[in-house]
Amino acid sequence: MTASSNYLIAGNWKMNGLKHSLGELDAMAKGVKAGSANGASADMIVCVPASLLTLAVERCANTPVEIGGQDCHANASGAHTGDISAEMIADTGAKWVITGHSERRTDHGESDSEVKAKSEAAQRAGIVPIICIGETGEEREQGRTLDVLEGQLEGSLTNDGDFVVAYEPVWAIGTGLVPTLDDIEAAHRFIREYLENRYPGSGSDVRILYGGSVKPGNAAEILGIDNVNGALVGGASLKADDFLGIWRAAPS
Ligand code: PGA
Repeated sequence: MTASSNYLIAGNWKMNGLKHSLGELDAMAKGVKAGSANGASADMIVCVPASLLTLAVERCANTPVEIGGQDCHANASGAHTGDISAEMIADTGAKWVITGHSERRTDHGESDSEVKAKSEAAQRAGIVPIICIGETGEEREQGRTLDVLEGQLEGSLTNDGDFVVAYEPVWAIGTGLVPTLDDIEAAHRFIREYLENRYPGSGSDVRILYGGSVKPGNAAEILGIDNVNGALVGGASLKADDFLGIWRAAPS
């Protein structure tokens, strides 16, 4: 398992973005280039809709920003109308893919084992899966958060290879609600301990992102928490100013 010690700030455009949105991506790349020259060290990636992958990769060539997809099929090719394979994403030059986002788990009924199969497909294609887990509001109220996370980690993570984990409480996504810093710390500590047990020697290097209503105004305190190694950002990744504000908040 290879891992970087840099913070990773990942954008998830979801089903947003047309060709003209690539102007925002240009501004992000410019901002990261300038910030990196001034000593900022976080990595930035943007996971765009499939329709923009090729163009986004072209626009970010020779910049520090890397591009990712938002989902992939578990098979490399075949009769799966409307789906995209990890090979196809890799073929565009993109280097990452989100797997198991809660919107996929809910809208498309994706199970942990499907998420694992998709993540393995990504690794076979040479791209890195960002594997998402997170409890619903109801599960949290029932005090089941850590049990739910453990089940998702057990079922969704690949047995080896490179991956990133994103902890995204479902109730915090797109709502403006954020867990307390103590609750984020506890969840990330739990995930870290799980990783260290399951992957002796490498589990301590896996990057664990927090996602759910991260904004420029709360990014510094969230990114300052132990075992938070970056952020997965939805709404605030659509505008360069907001997303760069989050990227700059990462400790260097
Ligand atoms: P949000 O989405 O930042 O808009 O809450 C996060 C995500 O779904 O990845």
